[in-house]
Amino acid sequence: MRFANRVVIVTGAGSGIGRATAVEFAREGAKVIAADVDVESGKQTVMSIKNEGGESSFVHVDMSFFESVQQLVTKTKERYGKLDVMFNNAGVSVKQRCNVLELPHEEYHRIVNINQHGIFFGIQAAGNAMKESGGVIINTASIYAFMADRGAFPYHASKAAVVGMTRSAALDLARYNIRVAGIAPGLVDTGIVAEWKDNPDIWRKIERAHMRGKAGQPGEVAKVVTFLASDDASFMNGHVFCVDDGAAAFKR
Ligand SMILES: NC(=O)c1ccc[n+]([C@@H]2O[C@H](COP(=O)([O-])OP(=O)(O)OC[C@H]3O[C@@H](n4cnc5c(N)ncnc54)[C@H](O)[C@@H]3O)[C@@H](O)[C@H]2O)c1
Repeated sequence: MRFANRVVIVTGAGSGIGRATAVEFAREGAKVIAADVDVESGKQTVMSIKNEGGESSFVHVDMSFFESVQQLVTKTKERYGKLDVMFNNAGVSVKQRCNVLELPHEEYHRIVNINQHGIFFGIQAAGNAMKESGGVIINTASIYAFMADRGAFPYHASKAAVVGMTRSAALDLARYNIRVAGIAPGLVDTGIVAEWKDNPDIWRKIERAHMRGKAGQPGEVAKVVTFLASDDASFMNGHVFCVDDGAAAFKR
């Protein structure tokens, strides 16, 4: 029960890594605000937590608007009186692979608004809420912050930015006793990669890039996030850690 009496926000809590992590935080005693742009799925996460006897509420958020993210943090403080952990996890991928030379600007902005600006908004709103009492902010990047695949320019751009923002924010927020760290998942079996899964050849090729030859499960990532957010990780700050079964560690 490492999070007993702690208040945790999970963004992108309606699905995949966010849902698994929200459930895991609640199992460890946290009061969890499950935030998502998708109301139905976010409320389902709350139901799962409550069915296990945990404490959770849903708050709608669109991470691409600062006002929405600020409201999320304000509502959290109104409901539970404080904020201890912010898991900035919501993200989207490219709709269609496209060479950077033909990339529509709307698609670039759509992804950067959520994956990059959303993380900035989350860091700023949560950081201000934690200034007096300290806290932990965990950001979700990707191994695609460190390596490139064809036709996914805005995803790579936004995830590399998460690494830089994590370092910079850790430095700025250390004086307030706020740790900032990140995770860089490899292939995890969630909705964001459903398109690949529909194509068995591509799916198997990507799976083979992982040392055990298969995708990770959201629960395996959730365990790392709760560790990083816990006091057990008090000496871990400013870095983004690969959670990828070695996929970014060797040549394919
Ligand atoms: N699954 C993978 O292989 C993988 C690999 C590396 C990184 N990631 C990252 O992990 C994070 C979680 O993704 P996932 O794999 O669980 O995918 P997912 O699609 O299952 O979950 C993403 C969640 O984010 C929510 N979301 C999307 N836009 C939002 C917005 N504007 N505001 C609030 N919520 C929004 C979605 O509704 C969804 O519930 C993302 O940042 C993703 O880039 C995933």
